[in-house]
Amino acid sequence: MNKKVEEYIKSIFSSNSEVMKNPTCYIYDLEEITNRIEEIEHFKLANVSLYYAMKANPNKDVLKHILSHRAISGVEIASVGELNIARDSGLKNDYDVLFTGPGKTPVELREVIRSGIRFINVESVVEAIRINEIAEIEGIDKVDVLLRVNINYFLDGASEYMAGMSTKMGIDQSRFYEDYELISKLKHIRVCGFHVFAADGVLDYKILLKYTDFVFKFVKEAEKTVGKVKVIDFGGGFGIDYTKSNRTFDTKAYFEGLDRLIKTYSFEDKEFILELGKYIVGSAGYYATQIIDIKDCKGMKHIVTAGGVNHMRLPIATDRKHPVYVIRMGIPRLYDKQIEVSNETVDIEGPLCMTEDKISWDEPVKRASIGDIVVLTQSGAYCYTASTLWFLSHPLPLEIIID
Ligand SMILES: Cc1ncc(COP(=O)(O)O)c(C=O)c1O
Repeated sequence: MNKKVEEYIKSIFSSNSEVMKNPTCYIYDLEEITNRIEEIEHFKLANVSLYYAMKANPNKDVLKHILSHRAISGVEIASVGELNIARDSGLKNDYDVLFTGPGKTPVELREVIRSGIRFINVESVVEAIRINEIAEIEGIDKVDVLLRVNINYFLDGASEYMAGMSTKMGIDQSRFYEDYELISKLKHIRVCGFHVFAADGVLDYKILLKYTDFVFKFVKEAEKTVGKVKVIDFGGGFGIDYTKSNRTFDTKAYFEGLDRLIKTYSFEDKEFILELGKYIVGSAGYYATQIIDIKDCKGMKHIVTAGGVNHMRLPIATDRKHPVYVIRMGIPRLYDKQIEVSNETVDIEGPLCMTEDKISWDEPVKRASIGDIVVLTQSGAYCYTASTLWFLSHPLPLEIIID
């Protein structure tokens, strides 16, 4: 773990009164976010626009920071709730918003149509009809949309799949032309392109490029029916490494490959959108929680921490272990025979009365004592907000910014 962050965590757990009362928190390192954005800015092509997928982490300070970078064109939202957070956190103009999600309510659609966001990523004929009706009532001539298509390609090598198999996301490519015929008759809908997000957590850029090749073939063919496509939105998908081997997504090679594909298909005049979440914030976040107890039960030790799946649900829910570090705090023992961990494989578990409440499992730990801090790195994306925060009504983890 980064030394600067380790020192910082150690200091807040021994001097910050809020953390000492509620010894479990998320820490976000804004410099790391800047590094990621600047790296993409450096390699990306001029016709690639970078949006931030707010669902990864809607913390207001994080969002303000992300939106302060000139390379960020805006945000991708999944609800009007996210739109409102963005408005409070540095979003200059509602136009800088894309709205995606398989179950947008009529009320949400009306709100974003009135506010004039850039694109609604339409996921079904029903949604297109709703948008058309709302536009008619609101007296809006055209609503710009991208059609989200579940492409017939399984992008093997991701951590979660949205498409390439039967899911609720988008319009099935196999019925695209049938559905397009209906959508194209809607007076107030202007189809500007496609949204083709297929999978999240891809570490190997070549896998994304192979998928892009397949998508470009589809678009080339579709243009014979839908006319010129102006925009292709790839969604997110750049992965981060959840092991300690520090493998990284090769952004340089990705954009070089994308450039080649664009030239091959003569797509130079199109705009390409990336809506990245995990890659921008994932590595900037740390979940830190204090060891409350250590048990030795039927031949195995259990480290019990102040926070568990109520704060950090996805590791156990998706079988994705995060890198674990233990910061030694040197807290005196409560009694002579107090158990410690010394070069053992243990489970690290929260305070909830359920055995699945594990933030790590089968974890080899060199040394750990009561009062030490367990830190899970790579915790900036889909951690705080993807948790069962209210289960058992423990205090929420604090969110602390390192600026
Ligand atoms: C529509 C959409 N765009 C973008 C993203 C961000 O993906 P990632 O965090 O992999 O970059 C997601 C994540 O689920 C998504 O659903």
